Amino acid sequence: MSVSFRWTEEHRRLRVAIVGANGATGQELVELLLDAGHPPSLMSLSARSEKRLRARGLELRVEPIALGGAARCDLAFLCTPSEASLELAPRLCAAGVRVVDLSSALRLRPDVPLVVPEVNGDLLAAEPSLVANPNCTSAIALLPLAVVERLFGLSEVVLVSYQAASGAGAAGLEALRHELADLGAGGKGERAPDSPFAAALALNVLPAIAEVDAEGHSGEEHKIAAELKKILRRADLVVESSTARVPVERCHSVAVHLLSQRDIDLPLLEGAMASTAGLAWCDDPHGPRPRECAGSDPVHVGRVRRGARGPRSLSFFAVGDQIRKGAALNAVQVAGLLAARRRPGD
Ligand SMILES: NC(=O)c1ccc[n+]([C@@H]2O[C@H](COP(=O)([O-])OP(=O)(O)OC[C@H]3O[C@@H](n4cnc5c(N)ncnc54)[C@H](OP(=O)(O)O)[C@@H]3O)[C@@H](O)[C@H]2O)c1
Repeated sequence: MSVSFRWTEEHRRLRVAIVGANGATGQELVELLLDAGHPPSLMSLSARSEKRLRARGLELRVEPIALGGAARCDLAFLCTPSEASLELAPRLCAAGVRVVDLSSALRLRPDVPLVVPEVNGDLLAAEPSLVANPNCTSAIALLPLAVVERLFGLSEVVLVSYQAASGAGAAGLEALRHELADLGAGGKGERAPDSPFAAALALNVLPAIAEVDAEGHSGEEHKIAAELKKILRRADLVVESSTARVPVERCHSVAVHLLSQRDIDLPLLEGAMASTAGLAWCDDPHGPRPRECAGSDPVHVGRVRRGARGPRSLSFFAVGDQIRKGAALNAVQVAGLLAARRRPGD
């Protein structure tokens, strides 16, 4: 199931840098651009280390990062850890390159638009030079939440996430596969040697994503609250979340319990969700599920039901492929909505 994004002839003439092309989101972005007909000769792929990347039957060279290469491009996607994005984004912008950053480094800066096109794509009309892509769990929760906000106003959101191993990048997926293979071979599936996780993930649930602060909140929980408020333009929104890592390869799931400002008309809400771009309605009382949603573009929403706190109370379950809508797809949707601007001086 795919969601189209805009990639015109003019976009196909841009020189595009993908920094972090070796990684989980970088590889996906390369494939999305190839699928959109972007010429490989106009793609500059780089990472920390040199590599050959196989994508859509092509063998592409990933060069060790050299800022010069990316700085000669018109558009750069930074599929890199925050520290690298923090260093690269200002330098590329200063060189006249338009930047879409997938990391969390710049998301909360007031002067940087943080965009999910279906929700606040209007911010792209100002043709910003630097756009931040949201956290993967935020992006997935936001599509259905924005429908409730538009129709009934949100008052409180309580969100519990079940996050896939690949949310921690290629190393997370590798760790889960290593542990599962060990179990399959009769071993104990102990924590993989280079695992980014605090404990073995196979046959397990890890009840915190990223570091936990002195008050017990995880980094992911802080990001979700701050990003939902910024993207929905609702600084007053009450957001509580609990984030967990589960032994799933890809697709984050969220169980959401909310209170709206006005009474919820359930048939109206269901109709709106079923017809909203980027959302896929799931009728299956046992769905949606990450295994079946992996590799698809929309956010799948189901188990929509009244909550126990009166007519303003609602619960639902949503699943999205966090490497696509939670990262690479959202980033190319953003870039496709921006004008195909060339770097000055060309
Ligand atoms: N995975 C997800 O589901 C997801 C979703 C939303 C947002 N994000 C964010 O997207 C970014 C990329 O995540 P990922 O999952 O793709 O990570 P990943 O699989 O670990 O890949 C990271 C990539 O960045 C490269 N890199 C690391 N340090 C670098 C540096 N100093 N200069 C240039 N390249 C460098 C790595 O190169 P080497 O392989 O050579 O080390 C690799 O290609 C992160 O900020 C992450 O938080 C990820």
